[in-house]
Amino acid sequence: MTAKYRIAVVGGGSIAASHLTAIKEMGQAEACAVADIAEERAEQLAVAYNITPYIDYKEMIKTERPHIAIITLPHYLHKEAAISAAEQGCHILLEKPMAMNVQECDEIERAVRTAGVKLMVGHTQHYSAENVLAKKILQSGELGRLVMINDRRHLPYDKPQRPQWFFERAKAGGGILTNLGSHSIDKIQWLTGDTITKVRASVDYGLGRGDVEGGGLAYLETSGGIPAIVCQSGYPGAAIDETELLFTGGSLRLRTGIGVWISTGGTYSEVHTERLPGPALAMQILDLLHAVESGEEPECSMAYSRSVVAAVEGLYRSSKLRAEVLVQTVGNEDLSL
Ligand SMILES: NC(=O)c1ccc[n+]([C@@H]2O[C@H](COP(=O)([O-])OP(=O)(O)OC[C@H]3O[C@@H](n4cnc5c(N)ncnc54)[C@H](O)[C@@H]3O)[C@@H](O)[C@H]2O)c1
Repeated sequence: MTAKYRIAVVGGGSIAASHLTAIKEMGQAEACAVADIAEERAEQLAVAYNITPYIDYKEMIKTERPHIAIITLPHYLHKEAAISAAEQGCHILLEKPMAMNVQECDEIERAVRTAGVKLMVGHTQHYSAENVLAKKILQSGELGRLVMINDRRHLPYDKPQRPQWFFERAKAGGGILTNLGSHSIDKIQWLTGDTITKVRASVDYGLGRGDVEGGGLAYLETSGGIPAIVCQSGYPGAAIDETELLFTGGSLRLRTGIGVWISTGGTYSEVHTERLPGPALAMQILDLLHAVESGEEPECSMAYSRSVVAAVEGLYRSSKLRAEVLVQTVGNEDLSL
């Protein structure tokens, strides 16, 4: 049976195979092709997923005429590929972060609106069972009013298997704060239903590889007035990915992908996490398909995703100026949360 939607993948690196695996399990959509300038990567994925390989993604889109393009390229190519796919009439799932800066986000948005297609950014935090549970507990009010958030992510960033472009500011936009900080900012924004409006950050450039930062600490404030700390270290040490939400009546510990614990006094106890209906990358595509069919904005809309990029940009600006900065939020009215 032929699926209703044909999907082509632009970029055949590490996340591409996960997208292709997710599509394979879906009834509504099927993958038709993959493009990568590294010919052997495209060939390997083509054989593994029974799809057609290309070296040139523009040629792939012109030839295959897919309904959807999933863009999994290095960050500096997001804008060019998204605009090109939109001009060819494709709906787009664009990997996070949406682009290198807010100006690029705006250029993408203009092209997408002109073409009349849908674009969703792959903010996977929205599709984690633990995050969904934490948001439910927050919204239930059972722990009282949310007072503050403390988000910590430590992960040795300079691992040999990480492609070189992640260490080049001109290609990645930044280091750990761009790559993983965008997840933390997304998580804070999505959990609170707010956007980040203010930032004071201190960014550290001691990685010793490339010209991107290896860590940073930021004080953020959301549009709803919630203060948050984001602490990220890409230096050696035990890995941790933990978000603490402090309420007037208790606290919640969230370890995305691992579990959720709450405490109203004494110790923490784990809350049972319900499995989500499907894997994150499949649910993302389903949300994009829903937007295509309903005409509604997708879960991670362009305005929302731009707000994440704006906050990340704010981190670097604040650190450079050694001052608190206001995050550019113009155009973020439609947050589709
Ligand atoms: N949501 C998540 O948790 C998550 C996880 C991993 C990666 N990502 C995002 O996915 C994107 C890709 O990351 P990755 O880890 O797969 O990177 P990667 O380097 O493994 O893959 C990128 C691929 O693009 C190819 N490429 C480069 N220029 C090209 C061009 N002009 N045309 C065609 N192909 C080209 C490269 O050869 C490479 O195979 C990034 O935006 C990254 O932040 C998101």
